[in-house]
Amino acid sequence: MEDERNHNISSSSLPSFCKQLASSSTLRESMELDIPIIDLSVSNEELLVREVTKASEGWGIFQVVNHGIPMALMRQLQVVGKQFFDLPETEKEAVAQDEDIEGYKKNYLDGIKAWDEHLFHRLSPPSIINYKYWPKHPPQYREVNEDYTTHVKKLTKKILGWLSEGLGLPSVTLTQRLGGEMAQYLIRVNYYQPSSKSELVIGGAAHTDIGAITLLVPNEVPGLQVFKDEKWLDVEYMDSAMVVFIGDQLMRMTNGRFKNVLHRAMLDKERLRISWPVFVSPRDDMLVGPLPELTGDENPPKFETLVFKDYTQQTLKSWAVEKLYSL
Ligand code: SIN
Ligand code: FE2
Repeated sequence: MEDERNHNISSSSLPSFCKQLASSSTLRESMELDIPIIDLSVSNEELLVREVTKASEGWGIFQVVNHGIPMALMRQLQVVGKQFFDLPETEKEAVAQDEDIEGYKKNYLDGIKAWDEHLFHRLSPPSIINYKYWPKHPPQYREVNEDYTTHVKKLTKKILGWLSEGLGLPSVTLTQRLGGEMAQYLIRVNYYQPSSKSELVIGGAAHTDIGAITLLVPNEVPGLQVFKDEKWLDVEYMDSAMVVFIGDQLMRMTNGRFKNVLHRAMLDKERLRISWPVFVSPRDDMLVGPLPELTGDENPPKFETLVFKDYTQQTLKSWAVEKLYSL
């Protein structure tokens, strides 16, 4: 699997002054093999609309820098998450998963002889939060996650606004079609123990995200890969960037215009990798399918309109085993 990795020159191997330039569109556009990096501090909104739309159409993934989420808060999110995983097993069991998807889980995947270890819980809206799945230790866990949620929601709405405009629709469209304030935000903290065994390279099996859009903060250990043009490509680690993924629902709502990016997570040989994706999904009872404004005689709907909860159940059933073991 190692050999499949793409080793094109990426901006992480460029001198730092070049890296800064790399976030301006001119240099990035000349590097078409790289995942787009979009600088959100530019004041030209039209340019942002064009860049996020183009990245969503061509890649289904991009990184954003100068995104407005304070760096100190991102670090705190990482610290409290890591502190939770450092607790003794018995304490982690206090937020163990039961019948739901939420909670802490450490599960041995026999087929690939690996551990799947993660913490999963809802962040918003408040009516769907179950605090029994939020760690009580470290004590700052809740406050940091609440603060992070406020910022992530703001950034998500901005990105959805630009994407709506890129589709020629009013900026509130995508946010509203996900249920507005009732759209669901869930965080998953993925804990990938290093592995030096050459047959054990994959920590997270290849998948597309079920929801609408995902905003992910990684730690400094690279490992995320995306599938493009029949190849797995490394996503370069950029300090302070957030990785944005287009999920199944935005692909379905745009009738295929936006790509739902196929991705996976590789294990490092020596270092612990942790990632913090926040999944943004429609309200469970929302009907989701190609938007009527984007379809018509010339562009008939390619996807069935489904209640989001039913879509989730169908997809999860079709997943797991064969996906994990076919890699
Ligand atoms: C995920 O797809 O849930 C995680 C990807 C990553 O760990 O980078
Ligand atoms: Fe994912």
